Order: sequence, then structure tokens, then C-alpha cells
Amino acid sequence: MYRILKKRQLSDQIWLMDVLAPRTAHSCMPGQFVIVKIDEAGERIPLTICDYDREKETVTIVFQTVGVSTKRMACLNEGDSFQDFVGPLGCPSELTHQTPEQLRQKRILFAAGGVGTAPVYPQVKWLQQQGVKADCIIGARNKSLIILEEEMKAVADNLYIATDDGSCGFKGNVSDQIRELVCNQGKHYDLVVAIGPLIMMKFTALLTKELNIPTIVSMNPIMVDGTGMCGACRLNVGGEIKFACVDGPEFDGHLVNFDEAMKRQTIYKTEEGRAMLRLQEGATHHGGCGFCSDGKEEDTNGRI
Ligand code: NAD
Ligand code: FES
Repeated sequence: MYRILKKRQLSDQIWLMDVLAPRTAHSCMPGQFVIVKIDEAGERIPLTICDYDREKETVTIVFQTVGVSTKRMACLNEGDSFQDFVGPLGCPSELTHQTPEQLRQKRILFAAGGVGTAPVYPQVKWLQQQGVKADCIIGARNKSLIILEEEMKAVADNLYIATDDGSCGFKGNVSDQIRELVCNQGKHYDLVVAIGPLIMMKFTALLTKELNIPTIVSMNPIMVDGTGMCGACRLNVGGEIKFACVDGPEFDGHLVNFDEAMKRQTIYKTEEGRAMLRLQEGATHHGGCGFCSDGKEEDTNGRI
């Protein structure tokens, strides 16, 4: 069992929890995710890691109450426990593979959309611990939905707040703020890391392509079981089939086919849609469980 040591409400529907999870806390890295399950009957919920403390052996998760499972999660209190807390899963952020010297040569801009601020935070914090400065935008629909502002202020070089309705900071969405910084204020960036809703990452990637700035996105929103077995997170990245939970969650934003991912996500929501996808995609429907090939051929990535 994994005890909740701290619970904090960040906005109307967004919650933060520090969970005692020693093994995950000792080995996780920014960019990775965990799967939580409240109890035996509970749904598996993949959540990106927001923070970790190796001494206190805690992992911080942030979630939005969107369905029955997350609403049940929000009813848990300090002292309650999750039955399962599996992780770290997925690949750590690509940035963690580079040396501080390599990173210091780059001007990095993080673009966080709404709840996507949670997975951005550990990356900016990790960079700061390596002596690397990075700028960050937090985009939210309005002032009441801005999360982790103080935490981000403490680790980012420059923090920009953008709200769709102009109730705080710049008036406009994340992409409008990037355009303002680069085109009107003359800021130069060598890399953008955009994390948030699919639609935000799509339009941010379109803009940064136009501005010629390499861009990383996190495809966590399309995951369901997070283990490569359900086939929900199948993606087209530069013409290759990838699975967000096994090969990602981070990918080159200029290569991700967002339109296909969004369309597929809608189809996947119904039983009938999932059956159709299984039929159409055959051996490449799953992301690597290896137990359901029925003797079919491997795909180009060696998956069955
Ligand atoms: P939201 O709809 O409130 O959007 C947050 C911000 O994203 C907006 O204020 C705006 O600045 C930006 N945005 C939205 N649409 C845009 C567009 N078309 N162009 C440019 N910018 C745009 O988001 P929310 O309700 O806070 O977040 C919920 C979503 O975030 C869910 O879909 C969830 O799956 C996703 N999420 C993603 C990750 C990830 O790893 N990518 C992590 C957590 C949550
Ligand atoms: Fe199920 Fe990736 S989330 S295959």
C-alpha cells in the first residue's frame, strides 16, 4: 500500500498528492510516469510525475477530476493509501541524457498548458539543479486555473503567465505567448518543450515549425493502461508507429501526426471503435505486450 502523506487542492478540479513510494522515488526521473490504482476494482490511471523527494521517499502526482476514477481519487485523504503505485514508467526526458555543458549552450523554453504544468515542473527543477537556466510559460484559461506558479517561479529563469481571458499576465494562449516572445520581444530559443492538451501541443508545434525551433511534446494524454497492452497510445511519428507509453511519452513535436492521434483517440473511446482499430491495425495494434500476436508477423520495430 502507498500512503498519501500530503493532499493539496490546486484549483477547482486539480489536486496534488505526495505519496510514500520509496522504490519509485529513488529511481524516477523527470518525464516519467506512474500508474496508480485506488483498490482492486479501481481503474489504472497513468499520471506523469510532478516531483519526487529521494530522502523523504515521496513522489508527487497532480491530477484533474475528469471521470469516476479521478473523482474517487480526489476523495482520498492524507493517511489513506493507493493499492498500486507502479513506476517509474516510460522514458526519462531526453534532456536528462545531456551533460550540463551541452544543456547550458541551449536556450530552452518550456510551454505548459493547464494541467501540463505538472510534468513541466520536474524538468525545469532538474535543469536548475544542473545549473541550467530555462524560461517557462504557464498557460491557463483563466487566473483561477494557474497551478504551481510559486514553485515554477523558484526554478525558472523567466516565468511568463498567459491566460486566454487576460485575467492574469499576457492575454492569449501558449502559442500566442511564444509568438510574442520570439517575434515581438526578440527572444531566441534553441528548443521548446510543450506539454499540455493535444490541441495545444499541435498548434505550438505548428508555430515552432514555422519559427524553426526544434520542439518536444509529451503524448501522455492518449495513454490508457500505460503498459503497451491496450493499443490506445499508438501514434504515427514521422511515418513510424510508436507507442507513447513504451517509446515515449516524449517525441519530436514536428514529427507527431496530431490529427491522426486526436481522431484515433475519439474512435478508441467506444467498444465498437476499439474493435475496428484492432481489425484495421492487426499486429501493430498493441505496443509490446507480446502475448497476443496469434502468430502474426512482427512490425518494423520488432513488436508483435
Ligand atoms: P485547457 O484546455 O484549460 O488548456 C490549457 C491551456 O493550453 C490554455 O489556457 C492555452 O494556453 C493552451 N491551449 C489550449 N488550446 C490551445 C490551442 N489551440 N493553441 C494554443 N494553446 C492552446 O487544459 P486543461 O484542462 O488544464 O488540461 C487538460 C488536458 O491536459 C487534458 O487533455 C490532459 O490530458 C492534458 N495533460 C497533458 C499532459 C501531457 O503530458 N501532455 C499532462 C497532463 C495533462
Ligand atoms: Fe496502452 Fe500505451 S497506453 S498501449
